[in-house]
Amino acid sequence: MKKRSLSGIKPTGTIHLGNYFGAIKQFVDLQDEYESFVFIADFHAITTVQNKEELSKNTLNITMDYLACGLDPKKVCLFKQSDLPEVTELTWYFNCLTTVPYLERATAYKDAKAKSKEASVGLFDYPILMAADILIQDADIVPVGADQKQHVEYARDTAIKFNNAFGETFKLPEPRILKEVATVPGIDGKKMSKSYSNIIPLFGTDEQIRKAVMSIITDSKAPADPKNPDECNIFAIHKLFLKGEELESLRKRYEEGGLGYKEAKDMLYEKLIAFITPMREKREYYENNIEEVKKILKEGAIKAKENIKAKMELIRNNVGVNIN
Ligand code: ADP
Ligand code: TRP
Repeated sequence: MKKRSLSGIKPTGTIHLGNYFGAIKQFVDLQDEYESFVFIADFHAITTVQNKEELSKNTLNITMDYLACGLDPKKVCLFKQSDLPEVTELTWYFNCLTTVPYLERATAYKDAKAKSKEASVGLFDYPILMAADILIQDADIVPVGADQKQHVEYARDTAIKFNNAFGETFKLPEPRILKEVATVPGIDGKKMSKSYSNIIPLFGTDEQIRKAVMSIITDSKAPADPKNPDECNIFAIHKLFLKGEELESLRKRYEEGGLGYKEAKDMLYEKLIAFITPMREKREYYENNIEEVKKILKEGAIKAKENIKAKMELIRNNVGVNIN
C-alpha cells in the first residue's frame, strides 16, 4: 500500500518561487510514489482575506497554479478545505484538549501579535485547524517549507493528546522538508514571503518578473571584481534552476571576476522565463476552461470526503457523541 502525502496552501495572494520550490514542486514529485492529497486552505485564508470575491478568485487561481505546475488530478486528490466542514468539527474536539499557553508558544501567533494589536481567535487557533487537516486524512508525510515545521509538530502533539484521552485514533505525521529549498530567499536575501514584499511571482508577466529580478539586492562590487557566489542573492535564486556543469560554470564565473551583477540578473531573468513558459501555457489553457477547473475541485471534494468517512465515525465513537 502506498503511503499518504497531504499538504495545502492558503489562497491569500500570488504564488512565488518559495511556494513552488518549497512546496508545490514536492507535491508534483511525490504524486506517483504517494497517495496524494493537496488542498486549498480557504478556511485558513479567512484569517486575513475577508472579502468574498477575493477569496473565491484566489481559490480558483491557486487551483490553476497547482495544475499548471504539473499536479495531475488523476493522481492527486485536489480539493478545497471548506468542502470538508468536518475539519472544523475535529478542530473543536482538539480545541477542548489544547491549552491556551501551548498555543501562545506558536511562532506564527507570536509574530502576528508583535505586529498587530489584537489577534483573532481564528489566527490563534490556526495550528489546530491545520492539525485537523492533516490528521483527518491519516497523512504519513506533510511536504512543506521550513516555516511550517512547527505546525506539523503541533499536529503530532495533538494526535498524541487525542490518542491518550480517547484511545488510539490518529497516526503521527512527519514533515517532509527538503534541505536545499527549506527556505528559499527573496530579492532581499530574507525568506521569500508574500508578507515581506520580496517575492518573484511564479506566474507574473515578463515585466513583473524583470522588475523583481532587477530589484535583487547586491553589494557594490564592480563587474571585474571576483565575487563569492555564496554571498550573492542573485546566485542564491539562480542555483534553484541549475545543476551539475551549469551550476559549476556559473560559480566559476563569479569567482574568476568579470561577471557583473547586471549580466547575472539578465541571465537569471532569461532562465526564469524559459522555465516558466511551458507552465504559463498550461495555465492559460485552464484560464480558458474554468469549468474544467471547477469540476476537478468538485470531484476532489467527493474523493476527500469518502476518504474521511470511516475516520470521522471512529472519532465520533471515541469522543462519545455517537450514541450506539
Ligand atoms: P507565504 O510565506 O508567502 O505567505 P505560505 O505561508 O502561503 O507562503 O506558504 C505556502 C507553502 O509554501 C508552505 O508549505 C510554505 O512552507 C512554503 N513556502 C513559503 N515560502 C517559502 C520559502 N521562502 N521557502 C520555502 N518554502 C516556502
Ligand atoms: N499553514 C499552511 C501555510 O501557511 C497551510 C496549511 C493549512 C497546510 N493546512 C495545512 C499545510 C495542512 C500542510 C498541511 O502554508
